[in-house]
Amino acid sequence: MSNDLVIKDLRAQIGDKEILKGVNLTVQGGAIHAIMGPNGSGKSTLASVIAGHPGYEVTGGEIWYRGQNILELEPDERSKLGLFLAFQYPVSVPGVTVANFLRAAINAHRAEEGKDPKETAIPVAEFRKQLREGMKLLEMDESFARRYLNEGFSGGEKKRLEILQMTMLKPSMAVMDETDSGLDIDALRIVAEGVNRLAGPNMGVLVITHYQRLLNYIKPQFVSVMMDGRIVREGGPELALELEEKGYDWLREELAGTA
Ligand SMILES: Nc1ncnc2c1ncn2[C@@H]1O[C@H](COP(=O)(O)OP(=O)(O)OP(=O)(O)O)[C@@H](O)[C@H]1O
Ligand SMILES: [Mg+2]
Repeated sequence: MSNDLVIKDLRAQIGDKEILKGVNLTVQGGAIHAIMGPNGSGKSTLASVIAGHPGYEVTGGEIWYRGQNILELEPDERSKLGLFLAFQYPVSVPGVTVANFLRAAINAHRAEEGKDPKETAIPVAEFRKQLREGMKLLEMDESFARRYLNEGFSGGEKKRLEILQMTMLKPSMAVMDETDSGLDIDALRIVAEGVNRLAGPNMGVLVITHYQRLLNYIKPQFVSVMMDGRIVREGGPELALELEEKGYDWLREELAGTA
């Protein structure tokens, strides 16, 4: 069973506007793969479609992960398969603390059909230990665990929570959109260190970003460029540097020349 995430000729629209126009992309299991591209090219749409966001209509193509076309699965089934989709969870849930939310997410993953959830649930002491360790690594104050989910969280706190969630759920592939937006330098470093600690043979990462700046911290092995709903160029880390230096126009011109 392959741990690669394989996207084949993916098409998606919002209303009657086609946004993804045949995306072909393979994210190798265990690799760090970055997607860059100009504003409005469809990067976040791609992340949303991978997550199973209901606002997008998939009109064609397939997304394969671990032997399944995940387009046929509900978001929670995608998550159980080992995909971590940063924003598949509600923005703010009054009355649910960070700790309760994380425990529920872990237990949902551990649940098995036909078994009493109490049997498969993570023991409380074990959960507390993991939570404490995860928060320490991310330099988070312990009081954070008692706060209500996303209520009044700063941009940096939301991102740290995302990484904490990843640390505890141990997905095999994480999809992250725009991780650098709104992060100060310290938060960026902590988040990047978190990702780097987790990334490796057991976890691949698809990171969507505008900025080379993030890629100074999270070093991708592969870089793909999205433009107008398609992947138009693939390369290694040097491609990100080239885009940082020259912008996107040269690539547009090159593509127009070969069209
Ligand atoms: N909910 C929506 N309703 C209408 N149009 C949308 C919606 N979501 C995305 N779009 C449009 O789809 C196109 C692609 O948007 P998307 O957010 O995927 O781009 P992006 O590559 O992530 O851009 P950015 O770099 O600015 O984050 C844009 O033209 C955008 O206006
Ligand atoms: Mg976006």
